[in-house]
Amino acid sequence: MNLFRRKNVLELQAEAQSDQRLHRALGALNLTLLGIGAIIGTGIFVLTGTVAAQNAGPAVVLSFVLAGLASVFAALCYSEFASLVPVSGSAYTYGYATLGELLAWVIGWDLILEYAVGAVTVAIGWSGYVVSFLNAAGIYIPAELSAARGTVVTLADGTTVTALFNLPAVFIIFVVTTLLVLGIKESANFNNVIVFIKVAVVLLFIFGAAHAIQAANWQPFIPPNAGTAGHFGWTGVMTGAGIVFFAYIGFDAVSTAAQETKNPKRDLPIGIIGSLLVCTVLYIAVAAIATGVVPYRDLDVPDPIALAADRAGLGWMAALIKLGAIAGLSSVILVMLYGQSRVFFAMSRDGLLPPFIQNVHPRFRTPWLTSIATGVLVAFFSAVFTVREAGSLCSIGTLLAFVIVSVGILVLRVRHPELKAAFRVPAIWFVAPAGALSALYLMASLPWRTWERLLIWFALGMVIYFGYGVRQSKLARTGTATAPGVAPGADR
Ligand code: ALA
Repeated sequence: MNLFRRKNVLELQAEAQSDQRLHRALGALNLTLLGIGAIIGTGIFVLTGTVAAQNAGPAVVLSFVLAGLASVFAALCYSEFASLVPVSGSAYTYGYATLGELLAWVIGWDLILEYAVGAVTVAIGWSGYVVSFLNAAGIYIPAELSAARGTVVTLADGTTVTALFNLPAVFIIFVVTTLLVLGIKESANFNNVIVFIKVAVVLLFIFGAAHAIQAANWQPFIPPNAGTAGHFGWTGVMTGAGIVFFAYIGFDAVSTAAQETKNPKRDLPIGIIGSLLVCTVLYIAVAAIATGVVPYRDLDVPDPIALAADRAGLGWMAALIKLGAIAGLSSVILVMLYGQSRVFFAMSRDGLLPPFIQNVHPRFRTPWLTSIATGVLVAFFSAVFTVREAGSLCSIGTLLAFVIVSVGILVLRVRHPELKAAFRVPAIWFVAPAGALSALYLMASLPWRTWERLLIWFALGMVIYFGYGVRQSKLARTGTATAPGVAPGADR
């Protein structure tokens, strides 16, 4: 048994070319919009305020710059891989080609934390915005049915109730899952409309509220440390970077659309890097304006951007921002669930997950069974998790994927100098180590409890791999896609 058997990059390329079961419908613009659809969400609409008020003050802007930098390093590495191995498995398949099957499984298992748990997190955030929006309109959803199981909710009259489950979160997962089953083109069109609305709302905020900035609110830019690490001062900026990192998650989901892209070698790098750069600029502007308009201590509310619009004298815009957030978060869920089903699809094709997952619907041409199974699981966890639990688990999982992809690209360059991707990481000996180290640093800033959950998750993953995948692996059974220089079957 060779746990480090690798897939051959050339065979992977051929496999991607010949497998035309999914519908190749997307171009560079659609991919960039898909990326923006996945990126702008809970992070900018909620976490900006929390981090400004609790960790970094106006220097939340620097937290966004730092987290953005770590993401850009990783985005460059993802882009080279995506243009070389344009298959729907994303980091999982890149790992299979460079680091071997066991680590590929680890990445695939880890991506569940990014995509499925990411969707859980954003569905809970969506529920919060919807409940608050409906409340303002005089429509009340019982508190018992709109928060994680066991959460104690204080009502307006001061009484408390214990929540049973989060019904709106389950609702949005079912809506999005239905769309994903109906078709990639339909899903992409829905995403494009939503991205348009959400970018319009963000731009409206930037240009509408800028006049109300009071420079005094930016003084001091980095408030002095309040005595404990992570509470203002430089350590606060760093901790803030670890938290707002969540806002950048999603650009890599573009790479899971490889097999539904018309010209993946060229368009995937454009989609990945383009969407990240657009969002980085928007984030820095939004953070600067929000902290310039509102004293940072006041920003610790569930809807800080709406609050800033309100304080800038744009009350009408506050309602619009809430609507934009509700629409915007639904497209994040869409892309996360989309990415998850494509990664499962790739893992099943390799035999590491059961074959039913590859079942493509004859009319819709989508992996419908896996989309539905993923939707049901994600809906269940959205009903019972809190946003904080799910969010930190999603961040740690994504950061780990960044570390592995950054290391993987170096391994690939060393092992296969002859392979020339259409997009190559510039200054790779700086960018890839910087990507891995910055992601590790951000991981270290997350709480120990999150690390514990990560370890439990991997222990479970190992049980499944050694109980199923290691024997069912196509590579193990057929011995065809072996690494160059290894005779077929030599790894068995
Ligand atoms: N980046 C996505 C968000 O902020 C996950 O919601």
